Parts: sequence; structure tokens; C-alpha cells
Amino acid sequence: MKLNLKIWRQEDAKSKGKMVNYSLDGVEGDMSFLEMLDILNEQLINKNEEPVVFDHDCREGICGSCSLMINGEPHGPDRMITTCQLHMRKFNDGDTIVIEPFRAKAFPVIKDLMVDRSSFDRIQQAGAYVSVNTSGNTQDANSIPINKEDADDAFYAAACIGCGACVAACKNASAMLFTSAKVSQYALLPQGQVEATERVENMVRQMDLEGFGNCTNTGACEIECPKGISLENIARMNREYYSASVKG
Ligand code: SF4
Ligand code: FES
Repeated sequence: MKLNLKIWRQEDAKSKGKMVNYSLDGVEGDMSFLEMLDILNEQLINKNEEPVVFDHDCREGICGSCSLMINGEPHGPDRMITTCQLHMRKFNDGDTIVIEPFRAKAFPVIKDLMVDRSSFDRIQQAGAYVSVNTSGNTQDANSIPINKEDADDAFYAAACIGCGACVAACKNASAMLFTSAKVSQYALLPQGQVEATERVENMVRQMDLEGFGNCTNTGACEIECPKGISLENIARMNREYYSASVKG
């Protein structure tokens, strides 16, 4: 396949970026999207040009670091996969592919296609943990009975990999799906009850401080989420938040 790539190039957070055209030949359907970018970068390096900077780590859909907007969709045209799991067989010879970073005020561009998602880390640090009493009286977590439906829902919420596609897909750049997944995975379990009130208040406060927008129930986040995180988590977080506000 021969492809026409339109890629966002930006020197750093302060520079003005622009789209740059690249023509890439010899792309095979079995290549992953990131392997296709690797080949482009090899060619750029051989020509003494700056390679395109993009985030990646595991390349198997579990770390959440690959964050590309491909033809206007976070993680590209397939559902329930990350960019690193996208294969070039999804595209055709002669296609033009537009590749941009995830865009949100709270995700400033570091360089080219790489954005700073430390705002997500700070939301997690604000409450996505449980404090465990290590005095020797700690109850074995495996001996606490948990309703199967709650255990399953907590597990599904915990599947969030913090990729940020929900924010990139949202017209308000809202982080409600991400934050609600983190709140839910604790809210559904007995172990999460001790700090439940302060957790939801602190995480929502941090989410707002980071500059994410509000949820207006569009649902684009759920559609683009590679891990199928459900909007039900946002409803649960809202209930947790109102209940925490009443407790004061
Ligand atoms: S909710 Fe989905 S889209 Fe958002 S960060 Fe988690 S895995 Fe990514
Ligand atoms: S590189 Fe880890 S999820 Fe894509």
C-alpha cells in the first residue's frame, strides 16, 4: 500500500504546530499502526530529518500510552481497541490518513503527537487508593464476601487503562468517564467504603482543577473507549458525589 499521511508536527507546548504531508510506500496490511509509523521514522532518520514523536509502551493494549487521533477518531476507526492494536488492513492503497494528538486543554502537547496526561495521574493521586491498616489486624480481602454482580462491575471499571480517548472524543474534553471508572472500582467494593466520601469529593475537585470540561451526556466517550467503560459509571459517580455532599 502507498499512503498519504498528514501528521501534526509541533516542536513543544509553546510552539505553533502544523500538519505536514508524508508519502509512505510499502505498507502491509499485517503491520500495526505504530509499526507503520516506525517505518516512516526510519525513513526520516535516514534522511537526517526529525522522527515523529508519539507515545507508546506495551504495544498490546494494556498500558494506555498510545494516544493518537486517527482520521478524527481516538485510536482510529475500529471499536474496543487501542492505537497499537489497530492494523493497516483497515486502510486501503492510496488512502490519506490524518494523524493528530489527543486535543484537550488538560492534555498539553509535549511534542508532535505526544501529550502530557499527568492530569490523570493527579486525579488518581487525589483518591484512587485504599488505606490498609497494617497493624496485624487486617482482614484478608479474600475472606470478605462480595456480591458477584458488584465484583464484576468493579472489575469492568478497573479495566480503564487511563488512555484519555474519552477526553479526546468529548466535545467538552470531559474526564468524567475516566474519573468515574476510578471512583466506581472502589465504590462497588467493601474495601472502598472507608474513604468513599472524601475519595469522590477529592477526585472530582482535582478533575475540575485540571481544566477538564463537564459531561453533557453525549456518550462519545463510551463509544470511543477501548475498554468498553460504561456511562453507568458516570451515573454512579454522580450518586456517590451527591451522597458525599449530603453527608458534608
Ligand atoms: S475510560 Fe476508557 S477511554 Fe477513558 S481513559 Fe479509561 S480506558 Fe481510556
Ligand atoms: S502502547 Fe500500550 S496500550 Fe498501546
